[in-house]
Amino acid sequence: MRYSRILGTGSYLPEKTLSNADLEKMVDTNDEWITQRTGIKSRHIRSESDTTVSMGTEAAKKALEVAGIDKNKIGMVILSTSSPDRLYPCAAAEIQANLGLNNTCCPGFDLNAACSGFIYALSVADQFIRSGFLDYVLVIGSESITKMADWTDRATCILLGDGAGAVVLGADTEPGILSTHLHADGSYGGLITHTGDLYDKTVPPSYFKMHGNEVFKIAVTKLGDVIDEALAANNLKKQDINWLVPHQANLRIIQATAKKLEISLEQVILTIAGQGNTASASVPLALDAGIRDGRIKRGDMVFLEAFSAGLAWGAAVVKY
Ligand code: UT7
Repeated sequence: MRYSRILGTGSYLPEKTLSNADLEKMVDTNDEWITQRTGIKSRHIRSESDTTVSMGTEAAKKALEVAGIDKNKIGMVILSTSSPDRLYPCAAAEIQANLGLNNTCCPGFDLNAACSGFIYALSVADQFIRSGFLDYVLVIGSESITKMADWTDRATCILLGDGAGAVVLGADTEPGILSTHLHADGSYGGLITHTGDLYDKTVPPSYFKMHGNEVFKIAVTKLGDVIDEALAANNLKKQDINWLVPHQANLRIIQATAKKLEISLEQVILTIAGQGNTASASVPLALDAGIRDGRIKRGDMVFLEAFSAGLAWGAAVVKY
C-alpha cells in the first residue's frame, strides 16, 4: 500500500493583532458578545508587507525545515486561498519561485474552496501521492482575508483574521492520510458571498458577507454527517480519534462537532481565541500548533474538518 504522510508543518501569523476591545472602538459591539457567540478574543491582521504569497512562503519554509527533505524533491505546490493578492500569476507559482523550487519546474496552482480549501488541497495532493505520480507535495493554506472585511459591518468584521499554514506530504508504505471526504452544495451559495464585481470598476468595493445564523445550522448538521461518513469509511470508532483539528469559524460549532465525535475539548486543537477565522489557513495553522507544542504525537489519529462558502465542507482522517 502507498500512503501520504505528514513530514512537516509550518505556519505564519502577522505581527499586528486586533482585540475585541479594539473592535469596540470601531463598530457597535462588545467583548462579551464576541466571546460568547464566537469564542474569538483577538485576531492577527496583515500589514502592507504581509501578502497571501509572503505569508504562504514563510509557512512553507518552516514546514520544509521540519520535513528535512531536499526541497528539490517537492513535485507540486498546491495553495488553497480565497484571498489571492492578484489573479495572475497564481500565488502558488510565486511561492514556488520564492522557495527556489523553480529549478525543478514543479507544477503549482491555486485552489479555492473558501475555508474548506485546505482539506480539498490535502485531498488533491493525497491522490497524486497515492497514485504513485508524485512522492512529495507541498500543501499551503494562506489567506489575507481581512482585506475583504467590511469594517463597518459588526456581523462579519469581528470574525476574520489573516495567516498561513503549510504541510509537506511524502509517500510512505505506512499511513498517513487514511481518507479524505469532500462535499459541496452550491444551492446554498448565497449564504456566504463576496459582494460586488472583481472586474467592473464602476461598482463599489466588494466585501465578505454572510448569513451567519443559517450557515451555523447547516454547518453543524453537515459536519456531523461527514464525521459518520469518515469513520465508517475507515471502520473506526469515535474512541479511535485522538485529536480534532477543526476549522476555527465558531467555538460553538466546534463544541457541537466535538460532542458528535464524543471527544473532550481537551482533545480539540483550538486557535480561535487568538486567531479568529483565517479561512483556509485555519486548519493547517491549528495542525501546526498542535504538533509544535507536542500535543499531537506520531501515531495519533487526527480528524481534520472544515465548513465554508460554497457551501463546501470536508474532512480528512490522518494518522500522524
Ligand atoms: O468560515 C465559514 C463558515 N462560517 C461559519 O460557519 C460561521 C457560522 N455562523 C456563526 O458563526 C454565527 O452565526 C455568527 C457568529 C456569525 C453570529 O452569531 P449568531 O448567534 O448566529 O448571531 P445572529 O447573527 O443571530 O445575531 C444575533 C444578534 C442580532 O441582533 P438582534 O437582531 O437579535 O437584535 C445581531 O444584530 O446579535 C447582533 N449582532 C451583534 N451584536 C453585537 C451581530 N453581530 C454583532 C456584534 N456585536 N458583532
